[in-house]
Amino acid sequence: MLRKIGILTSGGDSPGMNAAIRAVTRTALSNGIEVVGIHDGYKGLVEGNYEPFTKVSVSETMARGGTILGSARLPEFKDEEVVLKGCQKLKENNIDAVVVIGGDGTYRGADSLTKHGINCIALPGTIDNDIQGTDFTIGFDTALNTIVECVDKLKDTSSSHHRCSVVEVMGNRCGDLAIYSGISCGAEILITPETGYDEEAVLEKLKYFETRKKNHAIVIVSEKVCDVNALADKISKSTGFAGRATILGHIQRGGAPTPTDRVLA
Ligand code: F6P
Repeated sequence: MLRKIGILTSGGDSPGMNAAIRAVTRTALSNGIEVVGIHDGYKGLVEGNYEPFTKVSVSETMARGGTILGSARLPEFKDEEVVLKGCQKLKENNIDAVVVIGGDGTYRGADSLTKHGINCIALPGTIDNDIQGTDFTIGFDTALNTIVECVDKLKDTSSSHHRCSVVEVMGNRCGDLAIYSGISCGAEILITPETGYDEEAVLEKLKYFETRKKNHAIVIVSEKVCDVNALADKISKSTGFAGRATILGHIQRGGAPTPTDRVLA
């Protein structure tokens, strides 16, 4: 019989994680199951950084970005010895099962725990939308909204200056943030892990847009595919557009979750 569960968030935080923590906590408590908040992901799980949760522990958290439990990346959680230490800590605290919220690394951690007899449920919490078996991950919609807001602003200024904005978005190895934001903003060019990168083709396309009298262009690039600063420089040198690179960075991970992410969480 399930009497006590742990809950943790791990890896890169995502907006909506708090709403998920709240939903799991309140549902479990309403069903007579004790809840323990595990701070700082698998690091806290191994170190025993545990806090008994009540309904009040998760009050006023729905609209907050980030994660009230804190998050960490613990690459060592691949090692058998570290996983066993974590299992031992859970057993000492009479925790029967764990709900983990995070991305692919978090899922791998849950898999290791499960193989050692600790039942886990993993919830997809990442802005990257790269978890198999789910249409959307918690946080993707909020990050997408943030990107669209930023690109719309960049469009205003780049069209005033006959510029080409090269915008790098997150996504790890998944192009969804770039594709969805690119479509939403009417970007001229998308460069993602799926499309690959052909510098000559990008420059040729921009030259073509110039012949069509376009006064600005937006190029959305998934991180890790090419160097956006080098590309912007090349655009300035070889086309009539002045290239400017913007790396949106961690701003994409912050902010209050959208209603869609709250409902999903
Ligand atoms: O997985 C979420 C994510 O934001 C990725 O999009 C990005 O590649 C990575 O995390 C950044 O990690 P960190 O916050 O550790 O720099």
